Amino acid sequence: MPTENARAFFEMSNLEQGGGVIARYREFLLVSDSTPVVSLGEGNTPLVYAAKLSARIGRGCEVFVKNEGVNPTGSFKDRGMTVAVSRALERKVCALICASTGNTSASAAAYAARAGVPCAVILPAGKIASGKLLQAFVHGARIIAVEGNFDDALRIVRELGARDDLAIVNSINPDRIAGQKTAAFEIVDLLGDAPDFHLLPVGNAGNISAYWAGYNEYCARQKSTKLPAMIGFQAAGAAPIFYNRVVENPETIASAIRIGNPASWKQARAAIEESRGAIDIVSDEEILAAQNWLARNEGIFVEPASAASIAGFFKCWNAKGAAHSFEKIPEGSRIVCTVTGHGLKDPDARKIDNIPPVPANIDNVLHAIGF
Ligand code: F0G
Repeated sequence: MPTENARAFFEMSNLEQGGGVIARYREFLLVSDSTPVVSLGEGNTPLVYAAKLSARIGRGCEVFVKNEGVNPTGSFKDRGMTVAVSRALERKVCALICASTGNTSASAAAYAARAGVPCAVILPAGKIASGKLLQAFVHGARIIAVEGNFDDALRIVRELGARDDLAIVNSINPDRIAGQKTAAFEIVDLLGDAPDFHLLPVGNAGNISAYWAGYNEYCARQKSTKLPAMIGFQAAGAAPIFYNRVVENPETIASAIRIGNPASWKQARAAIEESRGAIDIVSDEEILAAQNWLARNEGIFVEPASAASIAGFFKCWNAKGAAHSFEKIPEGSRIVCTVTGHGLKDPDARKIDNIPPVPANIDNVLHAIGF
């Protein structure tokens, strides 16, 4: 018998449940009437048509940017977090725990605050972008900085997570992957079919696995007629899947994907192989150039890790040395690039030009504008 509380949740409208991914894709998720929905209205993010990227390829191809930076805490993690936290609450856990390069901790902290459960985030000391650390702090998470990298933090969390009273909300929790697959659903719902290519950054490799699961599930339900080739991009200094070996000391400006031993390595490999996609690398210079390009040409400001998919797009377009090339792409192909997190999360990745002050009068200001 459902409790009074459970019935109350069941009777709530989608709107009252936050209008997020559980409300919209309930039938595809392992939630029941007795799952207390913890939502911040995540998902339903813009799929922005990128005219300039489309023009680069020509041949009637269309390029879209799935802007996940506009989720409630500024990254795609919220899609998985709503499911993971709701299900953890249903199991009546005492606290949430995660390792993170930043975004997972920001998201976990926010959803934990909303749910009213304590949250501990285990972070590599000194390696988290300031905006993300600020989020975890402001939302009241217990922050533990370990002397090591993300892979060390995740190892510790795995050990702690063996306890029943703690819920791990990293992407090794299948609820996270289930929630994140809704991004693929949204793309198919909007385009009317799956795209031909899907480009995205790869770190711990949960997201590429989640998208692939989502595309497959929708295809199996006849909501799409095809599956995209999944093309993942790692930072050159943190590219274990590309090099097919653990990277002991991963290094990149894209701190979100500074990972040397991804948890979903096997699943990502399967997604790439089954979809006849590719895994490739982009340098920090290419990442920063792509971040700049996207901000200045399409009006979308993303954090460095997110720009890996755009840097990857340019690599495929240039074709030189790329694992995948757009040179012979079929006419009218559709390409989706996911950008995963908002640019404001990592203000220190970029230096602002020195802006010398001018006297506060029209002449000086006009002169300084220089138009
Ligand atoms: N982009 C951003 C902005 C991320 O924060 C992450 C992962 C990724 C891409 C890669 O996604 O791990 O599913 O392959 N961030 C995790 C974190 C590791 O702790 O916030 P992935």
